Amino acid sequence: MLPQIYIARKIPVEVENYIAEHFRYKKWDRLEPIPREYLFEQLADCEGLLTSGTRIDQELLDHSPKLKVVSNISVGYNNFDLEVMRERKILGTNTPKVLDDTVADLILSLMLSVARRVPELDRYVRAGHWSSKDDENIFGVDVHHKTLGIIGMGNIGQAVAQRGKWGFGMNILYHNRHSKPDVEQALDAAYRSKEELLRESDFIVLMTPLTPETRHYIGEREFAMMKPSAVFINASRGATVDEAALINALRMKQIFGAGLDVFEQEPVDPKNPLLTMDNVVVLPHIGSATSQTRLEMGMLAARNLVDALYGRKPSQLVKELQDLYES
Ligand code: DGY
Repeated sequence: MLPQIYIARKIPVEVENYIAEHFRYKKWDRLEPIPREYLFEQLADCEGLLTSGTRIDQELLDHSPKLKVVSNISVGYNNFDLEVMRERKILGTNTPKVLDDTVADLILSLMLSVARRVPELDRYVRAGHWSSKDDENIFGVDVHHKTLGIIGMGNIGQAVAQRGKWGFGMNILYHNRHSKPDVEQALDAAYRSKEELLRESDFIVLMTPLTPETRHYIGEREFAMMKPSAVFINASRGATVDEAALINALRMKQIFGAGLDVFEQEPVDPKNPLLTMDNVVVLPHIGSATSQTRLEMGMLAARNLVDALYGRKPSQLVKELQDLYES
């Protein structure tokens, strides 16, 4: 009999067809997130779970006696309680690499939108405020040839650096847990301490994964170090930034503006003050959201599930759980 799995979010039909060849499956087919209690009921007889963002913790695993693998359709896996998964020998996989260029494109669009105030000035034109060509009030800041500081020089960080370097002639700085001499050479990038990077950069892009160590990695102290002309971009996870400190820094004009694809609470609270600020560009966590990339992520996640449940090592087993795999 084919293994039983649960699909906890909407997936492209091609991915579902592939899954149907390998598994018996049940699925959540609605756009809103699956209610947790309902998911618990569904998981009672499942060996695999295809999802993204679902918290995989003790409570969920207590309701999933047969579960062997959770396959995330995302590169981030801060939804995994890695300690509990290790204890229960549950494999966890993600979908890196296939989304790097798509997320990097989105980050560049946020940099340009904030620097040149694109959404704000779009609203200005539509409201009929366009009266003179040379109104200094609508000036922005340049992107080209400025200094781009990237915190978290993984695959996506490097794709952003390439665009900055070769597309916009930017000077590239980076901060990472470990320095990367090969990247430094390829992109003429320079390693900086976190503090040096914050002080020297015109654009600061935060791409570090969310872990207990990076929660509120950027807060009041860090915003105070940035230039008043700095543009801050977060496309990692909302909780890597202390949002109250960001709101304060924007209100006090400590920085020029911010571009945000992620928030501490998602979907964002409509009353969040960030939504009322003209120097902020906000997006609904769409870093990887193109049809092609979501299809590739879905297929990779499905292949991870198939490998894990058919006795092969999944290609994208997360690094913290590598040693769980017994061939
Ligand atoms: C991911 O896959 O973790 C990213 O947030 C995509 O936007």
